[in-house]
Amino acid sequence: MSTADTTSAGTGTANATADPHTFRPTVIDLGDIQLRPWGRALTLAGGTVDALMAAAADPEINRWNRMRTADPAGAEAFLDRCDASWADGRSAAFAITDAHDGSLCGTSALRWTDRPDGLAMVGYWLMPAHRGRGLATRATAAVTRWGIATAAARRIELCHAIGNEASCRVADRAGFPYEGTLRASYRHADGHYFDEHIHARLATDPDLD
Ligand SMILES: CC(C)(COP(=O)(O)OP(=O)(O)OC[C@H]1O[C@@H](n2cnc3c(N)ncnc32)[C@H](O)[C@@H]1OP(=O)(O)O)[C@@H](O)C(=O)NCCC(=O)NCCS
Repeated sequence: MSTADTTSAGTGTANATADPHTFRPTVIDLGDIQLRPWGRALTLAGGTVDALMAAAADPEINRWNRMRTADPAGAEAFLDRCDASWADGRSAAFAITDAHDGSLCGTSALRWTDRPDGLAMVGYWLMPAHRGRGLATRATAAVTRWGIATAAARRIELCHAIGNEASCRVADRAGFPYEGTLRASYRHADGHYFDEHIHARLATDPDLD
């Protein structure tokens, strides 16, 4: 990750719980892009609900990520779920936004899979116009570093369907080595199950810089 990458002070209210494994609303500033908490307070150029509907309409996002934001009600429900998750610190869903025009580039999200044990999962997608220039790698590395530094994540896992080679490259480049293959572990929207690769990064792994 670039040494120019910086993490700003939190912009949201501090979470009430004293649990060290708590994700707190934050803006992660990477210069040309910002990672901003998804929620009702987020404003995106062109409209937040419209941006979520556009993401759900993209065939590749629809294929590899389970988006339930195809209509305004679904998009608003997603924003409400994000607010609820931030409120108790159980997940951290960031919109990746263009720092210049405030448009949506994609999403990068962490969620606890075993919170007391500090075990989390990372996921991501990018809008078509923002693929192919390493943004997912940078965002994944940034949220990972943030989750380890601010929420004491011990191990962060990353799973992708074995046919998703771009996602496999993102995992490798973001410092998540391949650990194995999970059989029939991801259910596609049409009911078909995919095998997935599991990659992971430990808090004790060496810095990427
Ligand atoms: C997967 C995704 C997040 C990758 O993000 P990205 O920022 O475009 O990735 P990059 O531009 O850094 O490309 C990563 C690598 O994959 C390679 N790649 C891109 N598309 C590829 C493809 N179809 N097949 C094989 N490799 C591909 C790139 O050449 C690059 O290789 P490099 O590391 O040797 O340079 C993005 O394509 C996306 O959002 N896809 C749709 C949804 C999705 O797949 N979500 C992830 C679910 S796990």
